[in-house]
Amino acid sequence: MSKQMSHLDNIPSTPGKFKMEKSPYAHNRLRWHSSLAKLTFWSFIFLGLILIFFFRSPSSNPLPQDPSRRSLRTYNWGGPAWEKRVRSSARVRSRNGISVLVTGAAGFVGTHVSAALKRRGDGVLGLDNFNDYYDPSLKRARQALLERTGVFIVEGDINDSALLRKLFEVVAFTHVMHLAAQAGVRYAMENPGSYVHSNIAGLVSLLEVCKSANPQPAIVWASSSSVYGLNTKVPFSERDRTDQPASLYAATKKAGEEIAHTYNHIYGLSLTGLRFFTVYGPWGRPDMAYFFFTRDILKGKSIPIFEAANHGTVARDFTYIDDIVKGCLAALDTAEKSTGSGGKKKGPAQLRVYNLGNTSPVPVSDLVSILERLLKVNAKRNIMKLPRNGDVQFTHANISLAQRELGYKPTTDLQTGLKKFVRWYLSYYSGGKKATG
Ligand SMILES: NC(=O)c1ccc[n+]([C@@H]2O[C@H](COP(=O)([O-])OP(=O)(O)OC[C@H]3O[C@@H](n4cnc5c(N)ncnc54)[C@H](O)[C@@H]3O)[C@@H](O)[C@H]2O)c1
Ligand SMILES: *[C@@H]1O[C@H](CO)[C@@H](O)[C@H](O)[C@H]1NC(C)=O
Ligand SMILES: *[C@@H]1O[C@H](CO)[C@@H](O)[C@H](O)[C@H]1NC(C)=O
Repeated sequence: MSKQMSHLDNIPSTPGKFKMEKSPYAHNRLRWHSSLAKLTFWSFIFLGLILIFFFRSPSSNPLPQDPSRRSLRTYNWGGPAWEKRVRSSARVRSRNGISVLVTGAAGFVGTHVSAALKRRGDGVLGLDNFNDYYDPSLKRARQALLERTGVFIVEGDINDSALLRKLFEVVAFTHVMHLAAQAGVRYAMENPGSYVHSNIAGLVSLLEVCKSANPQPAIVWASSSSVYGLNTKVPFSERDRTDQPASLYAATKKAGEEIAHTYNHIYGLSLTGLRFFTVYGPWGRPDMAYFFFTRDILKGKSIPIFEAANHGTVARDFTYIDDIVKGCLAALDTAEKSTGSGGKKKGPAQLRVYNLGNTSPVPVSDLVSILERLLKVNAKRNIMKLPRNGDVQFTHANISLAQRELGYKPTTDLQTGLKKFVRWYLSYYSGGKKATG
């Protein structure tokens, strides 16, 4: 805009320039000239405003005010300045680097993965709708952190096909790291629509755009250990059954795996699903137990500790964020190219699923003991029966497949990882929100 303005400035429309002319005839002619120039000038401004209006509001349909769809909003995107930011963020800065669209980049895992990719010189563009499933100010703080490393997060929804098409028009992404989702198990009873919107409709609209892109990107995406549902055989292996989910969240992740199979089969998209096991760490998710236990222990509030029937232990295979990030990067680096083009399959493409866990389940009561030591505060424990509303009794990953094919090897135990989490937590919440990475 400033360039255009300075160009317009060169048109001799300033009255001062004409004062030199003496002849009345010349004067009149120049007056006529100058008013023509003024007319042209204002027409340009008017046209410019119309163009700006169109570029900035590509999807301006008013949306229904249904609370189950509150994450659907309209966002401002488009325009030359916006495209410039998109391009610059996605620019590859190292030899053999990849350019990755990271969905859910303002989320817990998305922020860490984006930062790690950027550090090695890959091109990274984020996409996130900043919904308020949990405190959006934490998402904004993560965004600010990424901005400082040169990662731009586009504000928009993965179910917005027009936006996705635009992004692929501006950047020929080689990879998509798809982490945007409605997470959480219990929230599904409150807002089932948000799971369908993000984990089903959003996934399909993303895959639709990927299959039509030229070249098609390779896609790595987050499934979940929850697909193992009510299974009792441990550890969970990729070949085990995944047809008895215990929550709508798990069911939508399972559906995602089947949808991935379809797009791989029909369109030749390279697809890798990662089944994360209870990821924790700095910049984590406030809706997860380790996070709100920390908050409530510090507040002196009692915390619910679930136990299964017959005093059965509830345990989780807690996996530290840095280990998950290594697994994500390894999945991207070993992903083969998609084989389709022009929206058509040209040959068989890679289809993979991996467990990314830690292989050592820890009882939730031990998690609390570790937090008590780190916080130097005794917890008020409130032992309760595990409600049958989505949570399973335990998770335990068999990671030998990821070990063999991705070189995945988690190295952080729960003690060490929680120590890093607590240090971050204290500095983020008591240090005037000036946390360090
Ligand atoms: N953290 C875990 O323990 C865990 C375990 C298993 C699976 N996963 C999966 O890993 C992925 C990342 O999880 P996380 O812990 O970082 O969660 P998160 O909620 O912190 O991150 C998800 C991000 O996606 C964004 N988002 C949601 N719906 C969107 C939409 N429709 N359009 C655009 N953006 C949208 C959210 O605003 C959020 O910032 C998710 O797919 C989640 O289901 C996480
Ligand atoms: C997702 O977007 C499509 C259009 O692209 C729309 O028809 C559909 O209603 C949306 N789905 C949800 C669940 O928001
Ligand atoms: C782990 O999974 C592999 C297949 O990837 C299998 O060969 C092995 O037997 C499993 N280990 C256990 C302990 O179940």
